[in-house]
Amino acid sequence: MYNFFVLATVLALSGTAIAVPTHFSLAGLGSRQLDQIVPTLTFTPPPPPPGPLNNTSAKLVNDPAHPWLPLKPGDIRGVCPGLNTLASHGYLPRNGVATTNQIIDAVQEGFNMENGVARFLAYATFLVDGNVITNEMSIGSKTTGTGPDPPAPGTVVAGLDTHAVFEGDASMTRGDFFFGNNHDFNETLFDQFVDFSNRFGAGKYNLTVAGELRFQRIQDSIATNPTFNFVSPRYFTAYIESAFPVTFFIDGRDASGQLDVEVARSFFQDSRFPDDFFRPNQPVGSEGSDVVFGAHPMEPGSNVGGVNNFVLDPTSADFSTFCLLYTNFVDRTIVGLYPEPTGILLTALNIYLNLFFQAFNDMNPGCTQVFPYGQN
Ligand code: HEM
Ligand SMILES: *[C@@H]1O[C@H](CO)[C@@H](O)[C@H](O)[C@H]1NC(C)=O
Ligand SMILES: *[C@@H]1O[C@H](CO)[C@@H](O)[C@H](O)[C@H]1NC(C)=O
Ligand SMILES: *[C@@H]1O[C@H](CO)[C@@H](O)[C@H](O)[C@H]1NC(C)=O
Ligand SMILES: *[C@@H]1O[C@H](CO)[C@@H](O)[C@H](O)[C@H]1NC(C)=O
Repeated sequence: MYNFFVLATVLALSGTAIAVPTHFSLAGLGSRQLDQIVPTLTFTPPPPPPGPLNNTSAKLVNDPAHPWLPLKPGDIRGVCPGLNTLASHGYLPRNGVATTNQIIDAVQEGFNMENGVARFLAYATFLVDGNVITNEMSIGSKTTGTGPDPPAPGTVVAGLDTHAVFEGDASMTRGDFFFGNNHDFNETLFDQFVDFSNRFGAGKYNLTVAGELRFQRIQDSIATNPTFNFVSPRYFTAYIESAFPVTFFIDGRDASGQLDVEVARSFFQDSRFPDDFFRPNQPVGSEGSDVVFGAHPMEPGSNVGGVNNFVLDPTSADFSTFCLLYTNFVDRTIVGLYPEPTGILLTALNIYLNLFFQAFNDMNPGCTQVFPYGQN
């Protein structure tokens, strides 16, 4: 009787442990699921974040130590061409599962992303899409090749592709979640990227093209996606990411601000640095997003009750209320996903919320820290 009980318990526990990979986000799980899963995970608090690079010069990053390799069965890629490329060159683990510090180190080393921006993006996305107990996050949500897709018991969600917070609508090269595939490179959308580069950039993608294409993608979604959602934080990331190709995908020795579309394809489609590629020649982040926004300023909002009914949302942060980006994110998004955390989950969330605030404050000093779960 006793032995049977122990065995049944072990089986139940191992069953849960196998069913839930250690990089799966716990966000949005009910308290019963959390009570089952959290005890099977080993709490690995995040180490202090990496500081800025010591040497921020441009340099060869497609180097012999970081060859591009094709995907192996089970490797995960997702919505972000920057992180995909870093994984396919071994700056991140090639399987696409990484810790917060691995992500910060990789975007700094491979793309010269500025330290505060790198920490902000890493912790913000991690709080939503990472596993705060194990410190692991997947940069996508599905396995490629012939490996089995990770099972998804209950509402457990996977990684960076998770819709509605950081992954969002009106991406340049990925479709809206509503249409069924929000993570794979879409050739039709990339053709539009090329078409706009031809029309507004004499064949190159530049910030003028970025402003026009960003507006077009928003108008497309308003007209076709009844669930189109364009509020903070997606509202901000949409403008910032439209400038990223100009900021990060142009060779660091080239100051023209004009991105070759075949170079763009290499990053967006193949997760691959061009041969002989040099990273930017100084730490960079959201440069140019003001130009993208300024071309066709839009306020945050969403389609209500169907297509072609874009209703502004005055409660969302916008470019004039930047602190609200932080407080909305903590008080609504994080508390919405984790309403009543207890035990090590509470401890972990408070650690990440603190790291997130420090990063936000380094980028944009002067906002007041909030403590949704108390100050311990
Ligand atoms: C901590 C670092 C980073 C995180 C957590 C991150 C995360 C993300 C996420 C969640 C998206 C999807 C948003 C959407 O729905 O379109 C995205 C898109 C994007 N990311 Fe990253 N990213 C990071 C760094 C970078 C870097 C360094 C680059 C450039 C080298 C980059 C380039 C892009 C671009 C161009 C898009 C837009 C894709 C499109 O619209 O088709 N990201 N990123
Ligand atoms: C940068 O320099 C500091 C101080 O010399 C050193 O402690 C640190 O390890 C260096 N970082 C890297 C990534 O080399
Ligand atoms: C910084 O890196 C560049 C490119 O690798 C190199 O040429 C330069 O010597 C380095 N500077 C220092 C001070 O190490
Ligand atoms: C790519 O995007 C286009 C335009 O939104 C859509 O019609 C098409 O179904 C998408 N293709 C795939 C394979 O998802
Ligand atoms: C983009 O390219 C077009 C065509 O060459 C040019 O008129 C425009 O000034 C460029 N914009 C930027 C920001 O470089």
